[in-house]
Amino acid sequence: MIYRIVKFGNPVLEKPAETVTVFDGELQKLIDDMFESMYEAHGIGLAAPQIGIGHRIAVIDVTFKEDPKAKLVLINPEIIHTEGKHTQSEGCLSIPDFRENVTRPSKVTVRAQDVHGKTFEKTGEELLARALMHETDHLNGKLYISHLSALKRDLMKRKIRKLMKAGEW
Ligand code: NI
Repeated sequence: MIYRIVKFGNPVLEKPAETVTVFDGELQKLIDDMFESMYEAHGIGLAAPQIGIGHRIAVIDVTFKEDPKAKLVLINPEIIHTEGKHTQSEGCLSIPDFRENVTRPSKVTVRAQDVHGKTFEKTGEELLARALMHETDHLNGKLYISHLSALKRDLMKRKIRKLMKAGEW
């Protein structure tokens, strides 16, 4: 099933998501649907709040289908280590058609559970590090625009409000 992506302005995106405690077939189905919805939207990462589900679940595939082994499922992720700094243009499926430079750690380790509830750790650099930070932020109710200067953020919000008024958001 393809879910519609929730856009900026919906409060679910700015609320910390709840811990997942049940690891069952329903969760597996949701994760499959999240990958499907992410690919359909041409994204490389998707967090459950972006489909209106306030639980700590995210999926990532920085290779966009090229390497099946790159598919990453994060349940209840926590960032446990960061190092370095890297600035790159970043976007979000919930804020379509906008991109801004965001400075993030260049190397990140996350601790999370898999679909069966088993805890694992994963370290990523560059784009994967960015995706790990971006998606974990989502689960904490934080969007990438919170890392921008107030000036840039307000400008973006003004543009979005205009689109909302015009019924184009
Ligand atoms: Ni996003």
